[in-house]
Amino acid sequence: MATVNMQQGYTAVLWVLAVLGMEATALGECELTRLLQDKLQYEMRLQYMKHYFPINYMVQVQYEEVLRPSNITRLRNGTVSEVALRYLWFHVSSQAVLRIHEVLPEKHPSWKYTQELCQLFDALGKEYSKYQQSDVEAVVADLVKLIHSTGVESRRKAVRPKALLDNCLKVMRMLYGAPCQWEST
Ligand SMILES: *[C@@H]1O[C@H](CO)[C@@H](O)[C@H](O)[C@H]1NC(C)=O
Ligand SMILES: *[C@@H]1O[C@H](CO)[C@@H](O)[C@H](O)[C@H]1NC(C)=O
Repeated sequence: MATVNMQQGYTAVLWVLAVLGMEATALGECELTRLLQDKLQYEMRLQYMKHYFPINYMVQVQYEEVLRPSNITRLRNGTVSEVALRYLWFHVSSQAVLRIHEVLPEKHPSWKYTQELCQLFDALGKEYSKYQQSDVEAVVADLVKLIHSTGVESRRKAVRPKALLDNCLKVMRMLYGAPCQWEST
């Protein structure tokens, strides 16, 4: 029962956000990532990121825009702080969502979905704007710099849109599960 109420609560919040055009600045990191988690449920990822795209459709991203659980394991082992890892996840994921959004015409059935994801990341960005690149370990600061550089020499690879969001969700669960006390399901 509690779970149902909670879900209704989040649905209501999503609705309010949609109506108000995202006045989400009052929400914290845990609430926002929780909303993201709801939006990234398997059925939605499947429908919006796979079924609505042509078979084998790929988007072009930089290598550094692919952040998998294995990257996190490696960076954690290299003693990168959890805050820095969340900062990195935020930059990689918001960029990934933007990449997908960019290739969609407004009439595409996934347009609104990715637009809503972009809005959630915008709101989350306010949480991260307090960090300077000098606050995080150099290895993370360098990665974030690379992600935002539109350098001609940046190496690109083709990735399925759903794979980008799969990684986004998996890594988010790794990084926010404990601090936000999500059940480990
Ligand atoms: C994650 O690891 C892959 C190689 O497995 C690498 O190409 C990519 O740049 C790494 N991503 C980040 C953000 O470090
Ligand atoms: C962690 O790093 C050490 C050395 O820095 C290495 O020997 C070990 O295999 C690494 N473990 C993982 C899980 O990557």
